[in-house]
Amino acid sequence: MKITILGAYQTKFGELWDKSLKDLSSEAAFGAVEDAGVLFKDIQTAYFGNKMSPQITGQNHVGSLLAEILGTDIPITRIEAACASGGSAVRQACMAIESGQYETALVLGAEKMTDLAISEISVGLMGAASEQERESGLSFVGLYALMARKYFDKYGAGEKDLAAIAVKNHFHGSLNPKAQFPFVLTIDQVMASSMVADPLKLLDCSPITDGAAGLVLASEKYAKKLGSKKPVIIASKQASDTLSLSKRKDLTSLAGAEKAAGEAYRQAGVEAKDIEFAEVHDCFTIAEAMALEDLGFCKKGEGYIAVGKGKTRLGGERAINLSGGLKACGHPVGATGVKQLVEVYSQMMGRAGKRQTKKNKLALTHNIGGTGGTAVIHIVKN
Ligand code: COA
Repeated sequence: MKITILGAYQTKFGELWDKSLKDLSSEAAFGAVEDAGVLFKDIQTAYFGNKMSPQITGQNHVGSLLAEILGTDIPITRIEAACASGGSAVRQACMAIESGQYETALVLGAEKMTDLAISEISVGLMGAASEQERESGLSFVGLYALMARKYFDKYGAGEKDLAAIAVKNHFHGSLNPKAQFPFVLTIDQVMASSMVADPLKLLDCSPITDGAAGLVLASEKYAKKLGSKKPVIIASKQASDTLSLSKRKDLTSLAGAEKAAGEAYRQAGVEAKDIEFAEVHDCFTIAEAMALEDLGFCKKGEGYIAVGKGKTRLGGERAINLSGGLKACGHPVGATGVKQLVEVYSQMMGRAGKRQTKKNKLALTHNIGGTGGTAVIHIVKN
């Protein structure tokens, strides 16, 4: 696979009272097209990653909303795959171009979450969980807390080990002006934050966020015509797992992520050790420890150890979540998977400012829906 990222754009993430879903979508779509240096008439199809708009804003038909914003009649398809909606939308665009039907595609991920009370948002988010999990009163914090407890029991990790993940991601986020929480944290601050679902505390959690991100993708032939030397997506894979945690054999690893990553490495012709930096789905700190293992960056049970040793920090062996991750950059669910690729593009284009990594030739993105029911992996080469 060789799909060029011609342009990319991320809005500020945060609690954006003065911006609607339409405003955010418009800013990201126009921003990505301008960055690509193409005209709107050159975009042949579009995919819109969005999870919660029907519940939050009452707006179902977001494909047509985007058509109205862009003033276009091209086919636009909404993709919903819980928190992996954005990554899945990128994958649909890659496949549409790979099929030969289109030469260019716009991918937009957008979510407007902060207009409802946390109780209503939590119920909306739980639409991505099983009926049994919803009826038992669990939230996503609770579901990931169950995984954290199992992980602690199996590998001997503890709350301070998870706190180190939040601290590292907030350090990266402090260097990102687009982040929702661009400030540093200490282990003590994380440990002192209020308990949400034991052992996960407020500062182990990604927040509720408004934001959008956009990408313009193009076929190899089209990019060549433009003389483009921009980053290229060389693998795009997606896998599934059971909706319910209770149906899984193992709670300390996401089987879908392992499968999608293995397939992506084969498609790209690379190995885990070759990946120089990655954006992973740290919806909760425990999720990042498991991601490092599922992706083959660390042995099972050693993900948290790598973080503790500073191996995943800017300047370390393999920087993880230079954007600040979901924890500090924010998690507007449908936008996250697209934003991960925007960050990879910015790093590869040398535009990441104070959080710029020098090791920027080969990167991976890991975007998870729910508790791992959907997993999407992309590999990008500079
Ligand atoms: N990280 C850092 N700070 C956070 C934060 C987070 N995740 N969430 C809230 N804050 C801050 C707020 O900015 C606020 O600060 P202020 O008092 O200085 O303004 C303070 O903490 C209290 O925030 P509040 O909005 O009252 O928090 P809340 O109790 O409504 O929500 C969570 C906190 C953790 C419950 C909520 O962020 C949450 O549900 N996160 C998980 C989202 C999720 O499940 N996503 C899907 C993943 S699969």
